[in-house]
Amino acid sequence: VREKGDFSRRGLLKVWIFACVAAIGGSLAAILGRFFVGGTVSTPGERPRLAAGPLAQFAGAVEPVDVVISFREEQGYYSDQRRQRIYLYSENDRLCALSSICSHLGCSVSWDPSRKLFTCPCHGGTYRKDGTVAGGPPPRPLERLPIEIENGTVFVRLNEA
Ligand code: FES
Repeated sequence: VREKGDFSRRGLLKVWIFACVAAIGGSLAAILGRFFVGGTVSTPGERPRLAAGPLAQFAGAVEPVDVVISFREEQGYYSDQRRQRIYLYSENDRLCALSSICSHLGCSVSWDPSRKLFTCPCHGGTYRKDGTVAGGPPPRPLERLPIEIENGTVFVRLNEA
């Protein structure tokens, strides 16, 4: 025999379970959207073109010049202001851009002018000015970034962050 109080408690329990399932489902959708929905920098070939600065700043720069580029990344419901450091230098009248992301585990490398090498603070990886590996654990060179010059401004396409 079911009493009226039992029925309303069961009803309340069903509503509570439904709300929990909906909350968990919504959270999972947001998390999966973060990783699987394409965004502004997550898909190769759809890299955003971002201004690095005036050409005069880099033309003739023998030593790599670091530039921090800020951009908005949107992936599904997720939106974030991001910053990525890149390096630009001139060689034989050609401008080159390198990512600062170490190919080992993704730390940010720095140019060491006294050693003429990029050095990684995490595991001691080193790279030559052209991005090729000089020592340590990095398996690949630093990524060369595509450059476009338009109206005296240098634009780059960032790698995946
Ligand atoms: S992350 Fe750069 S050497 Fe490991």
